[in-house]
Amino acid sequence: MLVVSMAAVARQRALCVETGCWPAAWILGCPKCASTSVWLLLHDSLGFCGAELAGLLEGEAEWHEKETHFWSGRGVVNTSMVPVIGELFTELYPVRKVGDSCASFVEGTPDNLRTIDAATLLKKSAPPSVSGLFRFVVVLREPIARDLSWYNHVRRASRKLLREHECNVSVSYEEYARCHAEKFEATFPRSQEKGLWGGVYKLQLDLWTRWFDRSQILVFDFASLVVYNTTTYIRTLASFLGVDDDHIIPATIPHRNVVGAGDNQQRTIDCETRDLLEGIFAPWNEQLYALLDQDHRAKRAWVGEPPFRPFDPMPCHHHY
Ligand SMILES: *[C@@H]1O[C@H](CO)[C@@H](O)[C@H](O)[C@H]1NC(C)=O
Ligand SMILES: *[C@@H]1O[C@H](CO)[C@@H](O)[C@H](O)[C@H]1NC(C)=O
Ligand SMILES: *[C@@H]1O[C@H](CO)[C@@H](O)[C@H](O)[C@H]1NC(C)=O
Repeated sequence: MLVVSMAAVARQRALCVETGCWPAAWILGCPKCASTSVWLLLHDSLGFCGAELAGLLEGEAEWHEKETHFWSGRGVVNTSMVPVIGELFTELYPVRKVGDSCASFVEGTPDNLRTIDAATLLKKSAPPSVSGLFRFVVVLREPIARDLSWYNHVRRASRKLLREHECNVSVSYEEYARCHAEKFEATFPRSQEKGLWGGVYKLQLDLWTRWFDRSQILVFDFASLVVYNTTTYIRTLASFLGVDDDHIIPATIPHRNVVGAGDNQQRTIDCETRDLLEGIFAPWNEQLYALLDQDHRAKRAWVGEPPFRPFDPMPCHHHY
């Protein structure tokens, strides 16, 4: 018998229709911002389940349980399919599992936060009676550290991911980052999803708050969640998601896939590159802090959302 939070089960049931359920929880982003850690926490400790590999996901790799990539523009669905999208999507989350093997459902595609059409598509596809109940989790990491982690990830990953990349990853991070820095200036504001735009979080949040109430979106800074204040932040997260029984809430967060183990990773960058990137990100970071501060002052954010801790500067080394 699964020990599940009955409050979480009740919340999830309100999101189920005949064909299946809409997930109550969404980990929106960003990539390399602990989305796997949050997923493992929800999945292994709090009784949340991901998608079944059925329907459009039949035969797909296991990681699609976490990341359906339904809304993130990988060609699975598009706007012409809005009338049937809900049915296709909800069949991945069967009603019979709720309160049985699962307390609730979670979707965790971390590309969703920065995908330009994701929020629009989701809002148009889900009935208003359910879309108002979604709970979105956003964890934001210092943008240069995130980009370096993504670079290391791509170098380890499949050839397909390598090919999709606009800048060559077979070179040092510094060279790769300079390539993106040049493209960044040239491409505003199209292809916001690519390259360094992945770290422009202010615009990404705007995409979502245009369609969903700010109080449905919980914004954490990565360092507080992963390093400084993990136990408190896990409790805050659980409470946001309606998990109310204290005894199932763990004190630590799983660390798989956050830093990545050993082998051939670039860990530090030179200061010239750091300063170049900092020059690009700093104004956007300031806009992000101002936005979050305003959301708190105007009480637009959920009451339990902690103040956002500004990013620690990315460390760097000098060449002599
Ligand atoms: C949308 O997706 C459908 C089904 O995959 C496809 O047939 C159609 O060409 C797509 N439309 C656009 C505009 O991409
Ligand atoms: C990427 O860089 C490597 C190493 O410099 C080089 O051998 C390769 O041809 C480059 N690939 C592309 C597509 O430019
Ligand atoms: C941890 O978070 C709580 C809630 O936001 C806050 O009151 C506390 O000061 C934080 N502690 C540290 C060490 O950051």
